Amino acid sequence: MSHKKFNKNILCIGAGYVGGPTMAMIAAKCPQYNVTVADINSQKIMAWQTDNLPIYEPGLLEVVKKARGKNLFFSTDIEGNIKESDIIFVSVNTPTKTYGKGAGKTADLQFWEKTARDIVRVAESDKIIIEKSTLPVRTAEAMERILHGKNTGIHFDVISNPEFLAEGTAVSDLENPDRVLIGSRETERGRKAIREVVEIYANWVPRDRIITCDVWSAELSKLVANAFLAQRISSINSISALCERTEADIKKVAHAIGMDSRIGSKFLNASVGFGGSCFRKDILNLVYICEHYGLHEVAQYWENVVTINEYQEERFVQKMIHAMFNTIAQKRIALFGFAFKANTGDTRESPAIYVARKLVEERALVVITDPEALQNAEQDLKDVRQNIVFESDPFTAAQGAHAIAIMTEWDVYKTLDYKKIFEGMEKPAFLFDGRNILDHQEIYKIGFNVYPIGKPALTHF
Ligand code: NAD
Ligand code: UGA
Repeated sequence: MSHKKFNKNILCIGAGYVGGPTMAMIAAKCPQYNVTVADINSQKIMAWQTDNLPIYEPGLLEVVKKARGKNLFFSTDIEGNIKESDIIFVSVNTPTKTYGKGAGKTADLQFWEKTARDIVRVAESDKIIIEKSTLPVRTAEAMERILHGKNTGIHFDVISNPEFLAEGTAVSDLENPDRVLIGSRETERGRKAIREVVEIYANWVPRDRIITCDVWSAELSKLVANAFLAQRISSINSISALCERTEADIKKVAHAIGMDSRIGSKFLNASVGFGGSCFRKDILNLVYICEHYGLHEVAQYWENVVTINEYQEERFVQKMIHAMFNTIAQKRIALFGFAFKANTGDTRESPAIYVARKLVEERALVVITDPEALQNAEQDLKDVRQNIVFESDPFTAAQGAHAIAIMTEWDVYKTLDYKKIFEGMEKPAFLFDGRNILDHQEIYKIGFNVYPIGKPALTHF
């Protein structure tokens, strides 16, 4: 099928958390382009065509609906769409490798390479190939070699255009990004390709927020941005442990240091730990790359960001066990929230997975509630399912429980009737606030024994 009424055909391979929202935004902002999102997962593609999108993201359905059927299409025909396309974004998953060399650290590029081979096999004309997935620095080089390996005479320009959206705020992040980063080879062709990509974003992003650079700096900047963000969380979480020993209050410390404009106030919320599909994987990837280049001290420095995160998760569980008289066997414990952050149904690398498993190991009776993530939670815990109850209503979840642990900062958990919840619980009743979202004095006054992060516990004994 040809799309002659459009200036350009854009294809995105990979219809996940990045490909779907990013392409929906491009299509909605650029009616002159025909945008197709293709995936091997036919269920996902079907869901993108309904009002029940495969991912939960506030505001996304409205954006999708604006363009779907006009210049935004979802398809499983990857080959056909490669042939038709002028510009291909690749946003397939690049998880941590679980086997062989680099297992547990480096990125698994098998899905990535497969798309490169699909492209080179069926392409009949020159194309711009855009790395949207997060990739190790210098991946573009490998990509170019694969794409030009067959000497077909067809030319591919490989561009790095990493995505910085955060889940839960994907739509506003895409609509109003801090910056768009586009890197290319510093050749005449590379510069021409970059101009074409800039032209797409310039439809709604102010020019001064569109940064262009060489391809290696663009690739590396993505890993470094995630490493720095995660580092802030590990930094504040490490200090939360010290606060708990010294009666200092992590919120007050964060506020005081955050007012220094050199430090800044964002991303200083102490928590049970960071989750999400990317922080851990991208830092470990950075660590692996540093080791590859013999930079062991640098590798170790960044690895500690992950180590502190694991420590924080473990510390949270140990605090629960210790507070509840060193045994939680047969005690009902309600986890409020399972998503790795609020406003998403995504549970990948959620600290709640670790906490739930540890509680089950200690033979607690775990009840999980979450407004959007229960289905994913069931999948994540399917091997220990018989010891876990999944419950959509937080009041029912807490009924008869010894403890509540807040795992996700969903707004609904901030305003629940905790007095009513308290009445239905076993006594003494415990509340572990893994996100510091409640008014701890108020909760304490109701009768709970309260354990925030990075603040002294408030107990009735
Ligand atoms: P995802 O798992 O949600 O989506 C990836 C999709 O690619 C899946 O639907 C999968 O079926 C598809 N796919 C895999 N191989 C394919 C192939 N050969 N052909 C066609 N489709 C194929 O992943 P995601 O969260 O969207 O992440 C994608 C990339 O973007 C990763 O590199 C990630 O690090 C990066 N990233 C993610 C986020 C985020 O918030 N999730 C933000 C920025 C960057
Ligand atoms: C993160 C980055 O913020 C995005 O810029 C990036 O594009 C994305 O990773 C990616 O590459 O995948 P995301 O993981 O979706 O986005 O969400 P964040 O808001 O960064 O939160 C990550 C984790 O850190 C969550 O578990 C969150 O609860 C936790 N967090 C965040 C804290 O514990 N404290 C904070 O102050 C901030």
